[in-house]
Amino acid sequence: MTRAVVINGSPTLDKGDTARVVQPFVDGMAEAGAHVDLLYATRLKPEPCSCGHMVCWGRTPGECCIKDSMEPVYPLLRQADILVLATPVYIPLPGAMQELINRLCPLLDPLQCTFSGGRTRARFRTGVAIRHIVLICVSGWWELGNCDSVLRIAEGLAANAGLPLAGALLRPHAWALRQRGTLTPDGEAVLAAVRSAGRQIVASGAIDPATLDAVSRPLISLEDYWRSQAGA
Ligand SMILES: Cc1cc2nc3c(=O)[nH]c(=O)nc-3n(C[C@H](O)[C@H](O)[C@H](O)COP(=O)(O)O)c2cc1C
Repeated sequence: MTRAVVINGSPTLDKGDTARVVQPFVDGMAEAGAHVDLLYATRLKPEPCSCGHMVCWGRTPGECCIKDSMEPVYPLLRQADILVLATPVYIPLPGAMQELINRLCPLLDPLQCTFSGGRTRARFRTGVAIRHIVLICVSGWWELGNCDSVLRIAEGLAANAGLPLAGALLRPHAWALRQRGTLTPDGEAVLAAVRSAGRQIVASGAIDPATLDAVSRPLISLEDYWRSQAGA
């Protein structure tokens, strides 16, 4: 059975815009037969990576020297086929999400580093099953470009694991999925595309570009966006 670990990095946990997009993705993966573990970085509150000399790459290969809430997470991550990083843009990341990403270091193997395209790149350790990394990123402002900094982080992380980013579900002005607390018809269509993306990643290890476009498409015009901000 395909296993997926989803990390929601939003401080709003299961109540925010990130959760609104994450849930149909989780549902889609489950429909396609995956076992999904959904974790919240803010609940885990990982301690900062702090030994300063990569004990997990040297003295105890693959094992973090910090003993905290991440201990039970490492086995889940090692067994997962799919890793989903979900976050709001917080110029660029919420603190707990950044701590958690730093703490992924024990999964990487410096002895498998390669030099390609002018860059030094690591690989996941033998025994780490992750083959697909997916980003879900929501943001408040109108334009898709507001997700660029987070997208670069996810692409960099995937490259350092020796993988391409399997898909990026980017949802700008995510608040516009709803009006007066209720999903709009366009919001429902976006979340249906998210659900389809979840099914696709499990079934084929990829997400169709048209589906990603349907997730990201503008929900209001730029003019209406500015009008709504002026009235906010
Ligand atoms: C500290 C902070 C920084 C933010 N920075 C940006 C930003 O740079 N660009 C953007 O489009 N939205 C930004 N936002 C808005 C959030 O990304 C947006 O409201 C998102 O939908 C929140 O998701 P959530 O409900 O899951 O927390 C920021 C929000 C906060 C609280």
